[in-house]
Amino acid sequence: GLRPEAKKSNLLRGASADLSEFIWPKDQWPSVPHNDFHMAQELPTVDLSGLQSNDPLELEKIAQLLVKTFSNWGFVQVINHGVPTEVIDRMQYEARKFFDLPLEQKEKGVAPTSSKYEGFGYGVESGFFYAGKPWIDRFQCRWSPVCEIREPVEKVFTETSDAELFSNSIEEYNGRLDKLAMQILELCARGLGLPVDTFTKPFNGTAGDCIARMNYYPPCPLSSLTLGLGAHTDPNLLTILSQCKVGGLQVCKDGTWMSVKPKPDTLIINIGDTFEAWTNGRFRSVEHRAVVNETESRISMVYFASPPAKSLIQMPEQLITPQHPLKFRTSFTWEEYKIHLFKKHVGGNGVKT
Ligand code: SIN
Ligand code: FE2
Repeated sequence: GLRPEAKKSNLLRGASADLSEFIWPKDQWPSVPHNDFHMAQELPTVDLSGLQSNDPLELEKIAQLLVKTFSNWGFVQVINHGVPTEVIDRMQYEARKFFDLPLEQKEKGVAPTSSKYEGFGYGVESGFFYAGKPWIDRFQCRWSPVCEIREPVEKVFTETSDAELFSNSIEEYNGRLDKLAMQILELCARGLGLPVDTFTKPFNGTAGDCIARMNYYPPCPLSSLTLGLGAHTDPNLLTILSQCKVGGLQVCKDGTWMSVKPKPDTLIINIGDTFEAWTNGRFRSVEHRAVVNETESRISMVYFASPPAKSLIQMPEQLITPQHPLKFRTSFTWEEYKIHLFKKHVGGNGVKT
């Protein structure tokens, strides 16, 4: 039967009582359970402590490791990344507090002025490309230059101080990830032998067109027949993810699905389609998905980095070589990508030439 957590979530709104909409085609059912970590290999871990030292040799070493991992896996887990444990824990805690609220209260958390991508609720429209209804609930917003969500969030919580704590932790956590994202972009450029500001330049000192998302997956009675999120690649530039202690993220490594074991203090970073194109395919935007389970609710916090919508993304000439012939457009903007080129999900031509 349905657990109380699921009843409080937005995902059941309008769903039929027998939940049949959540049953996916058999070929997409999770082949590996959420907590099966007995795969042949583990997602590589890169220690970023050298970032703090600023020693060029250390930086070069980390940069090489990152480039190798982004080329082979498209995914990496990082430790000693400089984001304090307390900041991550507080965000996890605040996110859980939010999703634990009654549905009627959470519903007040839809930003009035912004697009449907802001605020609380799973936009079914953004799941249209899946073969089944995903078992997920979410909250999404921007935090920079001002946290657009403060006003609606004040209506969600009955205590102003709770609203403050929630919004503050969004700003703090994602502000830290802004910095980490820029550091990773610099390391990527360094590792590819490019000018260090190659990938940060279009941001022009801003946080770019970045999004903070919190995913909530309540316990699910159909966990072997459904998915929290179907297999997809991320369209944006770079994604930084933190999962709570309950596993659910799965990465497709050369055709085999593997669960990523949750580890405290670890952040998971992956390449999006835009970065794959920008590096002429040197980095891979790899398919991943979220699986759910029968007993425990799960939270993941996802930071999506993208340059400002209209900044020009120009492929470095050094990345076009006889071994790596041109495979993608040599220039485009993130806005163009979002509107016309969103390849993998809507069947467009993408950024391939
Ligand atoms: C995502 O792909 O955006 C989230 C996956 C997860 O919840 O771990
Ligand atoms: Fe994703």
